[in-house]
Amino acid sequence: MRQNIYDNKEFYQEYDKMRKEKKGNNANDLIEIPNFRHLVPNVENKKILDLGCGYGENCKYYKELGASKVLGIDLSTHMIAEANKSNKLENIEYKVMPMEEIDKIEEKFDIVLSSLAFHYIKDFKKLIKDIYNLLNKDGYLIFSQEHPLVTSTILSENIKSNHQIIDNKWYLLLADYNRIGLRKKEWNDQIVEKYHRNFSEIINTLIEVGFKIDNILEPTPSEDAIKKVPKYIYQYDRPYFLFVKVHK
Ligand SMILES: C[S@@+](CC[C@H](N)C(=O)[O-])C[C@H]1O[C@@H](n2cnc3c(N)ncnc32)[C@H](O)[C@@H]1O
Repeated sequence: MRQNIYDNKEFYQEYDKMRKEKKGNNANDLIEIPNFRHLVPNVENKKILDLGCGYGENCKYYKELGASKVLGIDLSTHMIAEANKSNKLENIEYKVMPMEEIDKIEEKFDIVLSSLAFHYIKDFKKLIKDIYNLLNKDGYLIFSQEHPLVTSTILSENIKSNHQIIDNKWYLLLADYNRIGLRKKEWNDQIVEKYHRNFSEIINTLIEVGFKIDNILEPTPSEDAIKKVPKYIYQYDRPYFLFVKVHK
């Protein structure tokens, strides 16, 4: 059974607090969003599909930049309710739908986007094939996910922390990198299920399905991000996120 952690009330409240109370000062606003937006091509008159759209902030952003239509889907009813409340515009549609079922969507898109949601998906190859089939000729897929260095390690009960800070550097304790599969990680006091894939599994799946690679990004923090949140300097030691841009 697939986990739907964002419909867990306590988890959602904590996530919502992190996104809203720390608005402008969290890793989404300072790292993920600017790097993601940098990769997205001109969206004018393009049809966009956002997978795991959450609150729909990206759907609204790209609609306002001139996209002709945006469909945002998410597994969580909490997320889609918030998206409809806060980020609904004409020609944006939000649907509660697992991305494992996008093969049921009957229209085609010019750009498929997904921010920080693919690490929740077990069958990556099926997802990538389904996206390929939903894209128009020359269409783009741009996604971000937790970096494989972050999803990798299964911590033994004897080890309490996966890192040590020595001389102001983050030394990561890394294991299990080539053990692809389910990870159970504590976040917001809940056990969250994610899937680890090593770098070659991600890239070779995209190539096998037929995508051509445009860009891979493992970003370093901006000066502004470090000024606002000094611990982001540790992203020079290991990145939080992986960004991928490919086209059909
Ligand atoms: C970290 S949040 C990111 C939300 C949004 N993309 C953003 O960047 O603000 C991950 C989102 O993925 C959604 N999600 C997780 N598994 C999913 C699935 N199988 N199908 C569709 N959405 C899923 C969650 O409900 C959640 O809204």
